[in-house]
Order: sequence, then structure tokens, then C-alpha cells
Amino acid sequence: MEMKETGGYFEFDIKENDNYPYADGFHYKSARSAFYSFLKNENVKKIYIPSYICDSMLKPLEKLNIDIKLYSLDENFNPIIPDYNNEHILYVNYFGICDAVVEQVVLKYSAERVIIDNSQAFFSKPMLQCAAIIYSPRKFLPVPEGGTIVTSKKLIYSGQSKTSINALSALVKRFEENAQSGYEYFRKASEELNKVSCDKISKLSFYLLNNMDYSSYLAIRENNLKYLNSSLKSINILNVSENSKPLCYPLMLKFNVSELKKKLIENKIYVATYWDDAISRIRSNSFESKLIFDTLYIPLDQRYNLDDLDKIVKIIKGFYDEK
Ligand SMILES: Cc1ncc(COP(=O)(O)O)c(C=O)c1O
Repeated sequence: MEMKETGGYFEFDIKENDNYPYADGFHYKSARSAFYSFLKNENVKKIYIPSYICDSMLKPLEKLNIDIKLYSLDENFNPIIPDYNNEHILYVNYFGICDAVVEQVVLKYSAERVIIDNSQAFFSKPMLQCAAIIYSPRKFLPVPEGGTIVTSKKLIYSGQSKTSINALSALVKRFEENAQSGYEYFRKASEELNKVSCDKISKLSFYLLNNMDYSSYLAIRENNLKYLNSSLKSINILNVSENSKPLCYPLMLKFNVSELKKKLIENKIYVATYWDDAISRIRSNSFESKLIFDTLYIPLDQRYNLDDLDKIVKIIKGFYDEK
């Protein structure tokens, strides 16, 4: 055992709490590494993956040389897999609005082969009948890294990850300055995560995850969702249940939203695109292409109140009415 150090400069004082709701899972530095560890442990040879997904989830498959079978989605986010034959399947709880589809997928396909990707659905509880459920807390919470997989399989760790200095710098820059000044650090940190491994999450990230105020974050999100849905559901092609606990509010419109995005950026409102990465894998005019080109993903997290959202709603409605 390492001898205790006495004296010298101070370290962070973060309490050893146990708030993290998925503590009984296995914790890695990212969702993609959690996925990698599972696939490696289970010696998976072939898997069904949605064409509509970010490239980062393909990294573990490439590294392990796994045979990838792509599938499309119908307009209700159901997988279309006519030739399913008991293989592993990854299903994404898209934007956190697909809890009901997750239940259907677990019933319809071989539950012990189904992996649910809740990276966009941090507050959706795991479906314990399936093989594994993946979380990516970074997308919901201010932590430098983290990816949890809940499974009854016994996964292993190869070592312990060290907190990325780029990820830390991004958090500090955003706190002390603004999103733009930290963005390059954030981008580099995201790129680093492509090096998938079975290393355990860093000590700092896990301590932070155990110290978040999850119930108040969720309450704010739920309130924000209700507000956005009541303001925008009449123009939203997607049906967003108010019982969902989404990453953001997906607003699918009947036109390409790139002009509207520019208008939002002029007002310093930054919305993500999910996912440019997938364009080469999907058909034009498909449901998935509408999710890329015709959908706006409005932030609704704990940082925002109804006044912030009202400003966004007014810009969108003004643009929509002029269209
Ligand atoms: C649905 C989905 N799954 C997994 C990931 C990967 O998460 P992480 O960055 O924690 O590896 C992402 C984002 O990149 C995602 O959108």
C-alpha cells in the first residue's frame, strides 16, 4: 500500500458520497468504452446496429472486428429487421423519448441479446431483462468523463483512467469564460474518447458523479419539458411524451432547419445535430434523414429556466410563421 502523504499543497475536497443512481454497474471513461468492454467480455461476433447512430459507437466494433449488420427505423423509432436470427442487437433510446419502444424491443427480440443504449436517456431506469444498458453521464451532467454499463455479466477493468486535462480545461473554461473559449478543449477531449479501453472511470469523475443533485436536476428538466411541449407540440411532427425524461426536446418540422439554426446561433443559442456522422449510412428522404436535417434539438437541462426557453420558443415560432 502507498504511504500516506502529509503536508504540501492541497487536493480537491470532494466527499465520498453514493448518489450515483447506477453505482451497481461497471464504470468506464465513456459509453463507447463500456460497450467495448461488454462486447469483448461476451466475445460477440455479429451485431445489429442502427444506421442512425454516431460513429463513436462503431469504434468498439471496428477494434474488435465484429460483423456489423445495419438496420433502419420506422417512423415510430422501431427497428426494421426482417431477417433477425437471435443475434445481438443494440437499440438506442433516441433523445430519451423511446422508453416505450425499448420495452417493445426487449419483448420482440432475444432479451438476453439486447443492449439498450441509454446514452441519451440518463434518467430512464434500466430494463433489467435485457443483456446490458449503457449510460453516458457526460451528456447530462458536468463531469469530465464517464460511461456506465449495467449488466449481470461480470465485466473486468484493465486499469484506471486518468481524468483528461482537455476535458477538465473545457469545464473550467466554460465556467470562467464561455462555451466558445472552451470548445477546442472539449473537441480534443471528445476525440480522445475514441481510444476505447477497459480502464475504469477516473477517480475524480466518479467522485463527482456521486455528488450530483440528481432529483433537483430531474425536476427542472421535467418542468422544462412540459413547457416546451405545451408551446411547440402543435408544430412538432414527433410525438414527445411528457412522461419521458429526455436529453433535449426534439422538434421535427416540415422543412430543413438549417436556416432556423443560423437564426438561433445569431442569438447565441447552440443546438446539436444528431448525427452528421450517419449521413453516409442512411437513405435520403428516410425518417432518419428527417432526424438529421429537419429536426431541432432544444436544450432543456438544469441550467435553463422558463424565461430562457421562452426566448427560444419565440424565435422558433416567429420563423415558423414566416415560412
Ligand atoms: C446514442 C449514443 N450512444 C453513445 C454515444 C457515445 O457516448 P460516449 O461519448 O460516452 O462514448 C453517443 C455520443 O457520442 C450517443 O449519442
